[in-house]
Amino acid sequence: MIDQFGRSITYLRVSVTELCNLRCRYCMPAEGVCKKDHADMLTEDEMILAIEAAASLGITKLRVTGGEPLVKKNILSICRRAAAVPGIREVCLTTNGILLPELARPLREAGVNRLNLSLDTQDPEKYAYITRIGEIKDFWAGFYAALDAGFEKIKLNAVLVGGFNDNEIVSLAALTQQYPVDMRFIEMMPMCDSPEFGEDAYIPFTRVLDALPEARPVPKDGGVAKLYRLPGAKGNIGLISPVSAHFCGECNRIRLTADGKVKPCLHSNAEYPLKGLDLDGMRAQLEKAIWHKPKWHGDLDAAHRSGAGRNMNQIGG
Ligand code: GTP
Ligand code: 5AD
Ligand code: SF4
Repeated sequence: MIDQFGRSITYLRVSVTELCNLRCRYCMPAEGVCKKDHADMLTEDEMILAIEAAASLGITKLRVTGGEPLVKKNILSICRRAAAVPGIREVCLTTNGILLPELARPLREAGVNRLNLSLDTQDPEKYAYITRIGEIKDFWAGFYAALDAGFEKIKLNAVLVGGFNDNEIVSLAALTQQYPVDMRFIEMMPMCDSPEFGEDAYIPFTRVLDALPEARPVPKDGGVAKLYRLPGAKGNIGLISPVSAHFCGECNRIRLTADGKVKPCLHSNAEYPLKGLDLDGMRAQLEKAIWHKPKWHGDLDAAHRSGAGRNMNQIGG
């Protein structure tokens, strides 16, 4: 379906849970999330119904997100059923990777086509700091499990944090020379509960290009990242710049939260509830959400926080 500004909406990000087995500082508060009443969250059947409604409006690509989607007990069944919905051509999943040693193969068998994994630093101590409770060896075990399971075009996501990982741009980028993966650097978006980051923490994507003078531009792959490549690399460097150079004019996506709200824009508090509706009801809400998708997300920087009204773990990125 086309929105009122002429953008074709073909990509749905489905958050299956707000819960996570890590506590990344830019994403959620230290104490985790207060668990919502089970009755307020979408059931698996409702998620699939929502995906069917979305597919009937022209959604062809799904990305399963969280929180951490792999902590959801019925994640394999959700992926399997989502991949079988007529019209859905691609099911992707974004994860911190921790549970991939057990789940990489079953996810592939369930029909998941691609994985994106979060990796902000290669330093074990800094990994423990940024995730508050994570151990980097668990990430690497998950990463190797994903490669072993045969996933192709794996993308690694690093949120750029000034004073934290800006001195690792070169070593993170070098992973594209070692493995057949894309390494993407993402400008940190100021969500509600990330007050510990001062102005200096928000650094623009151009800092990555300054650190990698030998990187050469390559054509985009249909995603939101500007792409570059290092000499001899097996994968691309991606730059995602929601803060310094937003890409709202070419945005093709909407989101569904675990508590059943359609969010037409990541940084708007406009939400269209689906909980309890039948297929036609969901379709009508999705149509409304797509049509009223905001033109852009407004200013976003240390002084202008996201208008989303939720933290990232309650949206799915
Ligand atoms: P591909 O399907 O591989 O293109 O994945 P993706 O980049 O859409 O998904 P991923 O979950 O890996 O997200 C990477 C980063 O981009 C995260 O920080 C997201 O929050 C951010 N992101 C994804 N979509 C949007 C968007 O529409 N607007 C903004 N501002 N950020 C987005
Ligand atoms: N700004 C930018 N990216 C974020 N992510 C989570 N919180 C933020 C934020 N505040 C990223 C994670 C994950 C993806 C889904 O969103 O690193 O890779
Ligand atoms: Fe699209 Fe909203 Fe993302 Fe901008 S912030 S690119 S309008 S979803």
